[in-house]
Amino acid sequence: MMTTNRTYFFTILILTILFVTSCNNIRKEEKTNLVTTIAFGSCAKQYENLSIFDTIVTHKPDLFIFLGDNIYGDTKNMDTLRNKYAQLNANKSFKNLKKSTPIVATWDDHDYGWNDAGKEYPFKKQSKEIFLEFFNEPKKSLRRTHDGIYHSYNYKYADKILQVIMLDVRTFRDGLKPYNGDFDDDERYSFYEKEFSPVMDKDSTFLGNEQWNWLENELKKFADIRLICSGNQFGIEWNSYESWANFPYEREKMLDLIKETKANGVIFLTGDVHYSEISKLETSFYPIYDFTSSGLTSKWKFATPNKNRIEGPVMDNHFGLLTINWGSRDPKIKMENWDIYNNQRFELTIDQDNISF
Ligand SMILES: [Fe+2]
Repeated sequence: MMTTNRTYFFTILILTILFVTSCNNIRKEEKTNLVTTIAFGSCAKQYENLSIFDTIVTHKPDLFIFLGDNIYGDTKNMDTLRNKYAQLNANKSFKNLKKSTPIVATWDDHDYGWNDAGKEYPFKKQSKEIFLEFFNEPKKSLRRTHDGIYHSYNYKYADKILQVIMLDVRTFRDGLKPYNGDFDDDERYSFYEKEFSPVMDKDSTFLGNEQWNWLENELKKFADIRLICSGNQFGIEWNSYESWANFPYEREKMLDLIKETKANGVIFLTGDVHYSEISKLETSFYPIYDFTSSGLTSKWKFATPNKNRIEGPVMDNHFGLLTINWGSRDPKIKMENWDIYNNQRFELTIDQDNISF
């Protein structure tokens, strides 16, 4: 009788252990396959306190995206540029991020080499090499086969595809137009000094022909959700500072391209302005959300007028967090801002259906 009881007891124990283990595996599987967490940000001065990277690590993102001004290079001396990247690399908080989280990046003006610089910057080829070396771009990467640093990544989660498109808004960009007084009568802009006016020349380019052709092909590829990462803001109202709004024909071209290619699931992730906001740009198809996260270490005194703003501005140092839950027919995309003090500052959830044709 004793033996039978003991056998019964051990059988139940083993079955319980097997059940708990399989439940844990299922949970792990869900975490791995059904939820993707992406942190992102821009504007990190390599000589300042970078503890924001430690805060990011506590959120255990699957990926970190640098949206530009990843260092403040601002030089025409390539040794200086290299040394400034080395300073970031030696930072313990950055090392913490690097060892725990895969990182992908694009650049903006300061890490490209010079404030507000476009195609005229004379060291763009050398600067590109330093950038690729810093972010460990594989030797055989397609990114090394063309001018500029535009690139795309595909991530597969069960049967879903996330496409991450990194734009280069510096290497091919035509000259900006100094502010000409066009908006002097608009009182909303009267509290600050304006820098640029919209470029109304249809031949002026933001991305350049080669990058536009590449982007068209990328948008034709199948993906469930696409993050288009741009150093400059896309969905905002014109504000005289650098943004796609300074090239209205190029912005229109982007919207036309998304429409023509029927590219579903586009969300813009942008940087540059030293604060965070979400802009919602209404279009003739689905709304384009532009989630700006800028200010890993930098700050700005004010946010400019932006009628498209639906969240923010957050003026404290912060990062953006995007959580995609793939686990339903209609995936959910949660957009959050977290500040340097690890406080959540805004949260917005949309369905993939909201950004589909
Ligand atoms: Fe910038």
